[in-house]
Amino acid sequence: MAGGSVSQEPLILGIETSCDETGVGIVRGQTLLADAVASSVAEHARFGGVVPEVASRAHLEAMVPTIRRACETAGIAPSDIDAVAVTSGPGLAGALLVGVAAAKGLALSLGKPIYGVNHLAAHVAVDTLEHGDLPKGCVAMLVSGGHSSLLAVEDITDGVVPMGSTIDDAAGEAFDKVARVLGLPFPGGPHIDKAARDGDRLYVTFPRGLTSQRDLERHRFDFSFSGLKTAVARWVEARRRDGEDVPVNHVAAAFQEAVCDVLTRKAIDACKDRGFEHLLIGGGVAANSRLRAMAEERAAAAGIAVRVPRPGLCTDNGAMVAALGSELVRAGRQPSPLDLPADSSMPVTEVLNR
Ligand code: KG4
Ligand code: ZN
Repeated sequence: MAGGSVSQEPLILGIETSCDETGVGIVRGQTLLADAVASSVAEHARFGGVVPEVASRAHLEAMVPTIRRACETAGIAPSDIDAVAVTSGPGLAGALLVGVAAAKGLALSLGKPIYGVNHLAAHVAVDTLEHGDLPKGCVAMLVSGGHSSLLAVEDITDGVVPMGSTIDDAAGEAFDKVARVLGLPFPGGPHIDKAARDGDRLYVTFPRGLTSQRDLERHRFDFSFSGLKTAVARWVEARRRDGEDVPVNHVAAAFQEAVCDVLTRKAIDACKDRGFEHLLIGGGVAANSRLRAMAEERAAAAGIAVRVPRPGLCTDNGAMVAALGSELVRAGRQPSPLDLPADSSMPVTEVLNR
């Protein structure tokens, strides 16, 4: 497998610290060599969401051991690295700062270029590690605890064009909040997914945000999940007030159905709007079994192919950052300056910090 041409490809180390995962990935070309992740998710569980200060501290403690672990797994020495890539934004300011500082230290000490990249574009680029070159044109739907966006991607190294995003809660955030209402642990997505397996999707019809004809005129590719979350909470409260048991499995299934229905409908509409025949799904919520099944089914009916990286690559990790860095190096893009910032509100249109 490791033939001559493969070993000529650039060796990239990627660092991700935009939220609660300290990720260090190493790729050569489009081949994944290591993907070390240290998560502080357990430390945030009792707060029901990520606490920025706790995340920053955890990144600081995990950074060096995670870099070491990635190098060991890949069987390389730091001096073998051709370039360092790091998430420059968007994300939690303090958390990003730890990764950017570590990447600068590494790049400076090795005398290698640094690429400060966009976290969302990295979620798209990671698919190259699983399925090779990205399609010439595709819509990427990124759904996680922090973002829910539809992006048009022609060439990932040129950046992405935003088509729509959530106007309130992110899809994963809705899963987490509804899980809390149902008494399921944080992060709620996987628990709702599991509970829903034994539930009746049609038990309640929860609202589909921004899908009325009037909303579609202004928000065709945007999402809204906060009304849905409130509707579920009200439904559950009313049941409890009446002293009745809450059928957790059914509510989970009906809620999940509402989210997946809107996500897949709009994603496929976005593909049709652009004339793209590929839909790429990324972010933690891409692990959702119903979302995957519904996307496959509806896309197939529309003649669209779905690409979803395996779950471990969908959630935040360093491999995705290395993958994007690798695409940028291979495309001959100039690296970032060594004084590149950690930009918590880095625009989605900016793929690389210059
Ligand atoms: O991408 P990610 O690891 O981190 C960011 O938020 O950037 O995504 C985490 C989110 C959480 O909200 C979690 O509840 C959700 O992804 N999630 C899921 C599933 N697995 C993780 N949501 C629905 N179904 C799942 N199976
Ligand atoms: Zn993410």
